[in-house]
Amino acid sequence: MSYKDIADKLATDRNLSDEEFLEVICAPFGEIDELLAERAREVREKYYGKDVYLRGLVEFSNICRNNCYYCGIRRDNKNFDRYRLTKEQILSCADTGYELGFRTIVLQGGEDRHFTAEIMADIISAIKEKHSDCAVTLSIGEMEREEYEIMFRAGADRYLLRHETADKEHYEKLHPAGMSFEHRMNCLKVLKEIGYQVGCGMMIGSPYQEPRHLVKDLRFLIDFKPEMVGIGPFIPHHDTRFANFEAGSVPLTLRLLSVIRLILPDVLLPATTALGTVDPKGREKGLLAGANVIMPNLSPTDVRNKYLLYDNKICTGEEAAECIRCMERRVESVGYKVAMTRGDHVKYSVK
Ligand code: 5AD
Ligand code: FES
Repeated sequence: MSYKDIADKLATDRNLSDEEFLEVICAPFGEIDELLAERAREVREKYYGKDVYLRGLVEFSNICRNNCYYCGIRRDNKNFDRYRLTKEQILSCADTGYELGFRTIVLQGGEDRHFTAEIMADIISAIKEKHSDCAVTLSIGEMEREEYEIMFRAGADRYLLRHETADKEHYEKLHPAGMSFEHRMNCLKVLKEIGYQVGCGMMIGSPYQEPRHLVKDLRFLIDFKPEMVGIGPFIPHHDTRFANFEAGSVPLTLRLLSVIRLILPDVLLPATTALGTVDPKGREKGLLAGANVIMPNLSPTDVRNKYLLYDNKICTGEEAAECIRCMERRVESVGYKVAMTRGDHVKYSVK
């Protein structure tokens, strides 16, 4: 099959055989990327028009009980300052975000067990009470069903938990023995059962990743049907065992954004900060490949440069208001426009 035939088949069937996915992943850069991106843009515009949704990200703690080998804030990294925002600081970030026009607040943190489900529920309901038209997204890792339920009842709408890789052996090369592939996958299933809009995702070019792992990731996305998918290139962090590994490829990340848009046409798909870190125009290119979400940082400036999962992270110095203006310019530069709405998954939005 020609690349054009494969792109058409993917756009029509929203699926390919494993062999065809492998061919897409391994194809030389160029022709196939243009074909996929063109179809991806058509599909995203059919569901979401030219709108790009912004999410205000509050990185409220860089304390983590886990030891993911790739991550700069892993427990055993003793070389940097840990911080934890207070409830008041988190609420004040959410207020600032709201005033700036954000209608989704993402509370992201390490797996910091100071923030129990009850403490989170208290923070979530305080945000919801003040800003009832705002969606709250959580990104705080693996917990138990009861805990996810408590936070859902408090008003949390969405949950981001990247699966990292759909291959168990690969998962075990990226995580220490105490972390379980099955538990992580089960968390995703439970979150969906509870009623969250769920996001999963993987790094592109993570250590030991092979094309066949990405095929499994795509297969998993097709089966699981998440409302959101977060992908970005792996970027080495100097204080981890993967310090000398290469960063993931930008063109491959862009190609996968297009493929994901085609297999899950109405998915909420961010152009991530990691993509903007390895390429100054990475997020704009992500939008042109089919992404429709951007997540600017709302964290207080004095802690911004401490939430460092990888080296050279961008946007660690700016005020939230500057970030919005910067994002508006960037989004408009590629022909899209910022929509300051909740930006729910189409299946959940009240039309
Ligand atoms: N490079 C790129 N992405 C990373 N993440 C963690 N560490 C890195 C890194 N070194 C991603 C993981 C995690 C998300 C919050 O950030 O996929 O789920
Ligand atoms: Fe933060 Fe550009 S998005 S400064």
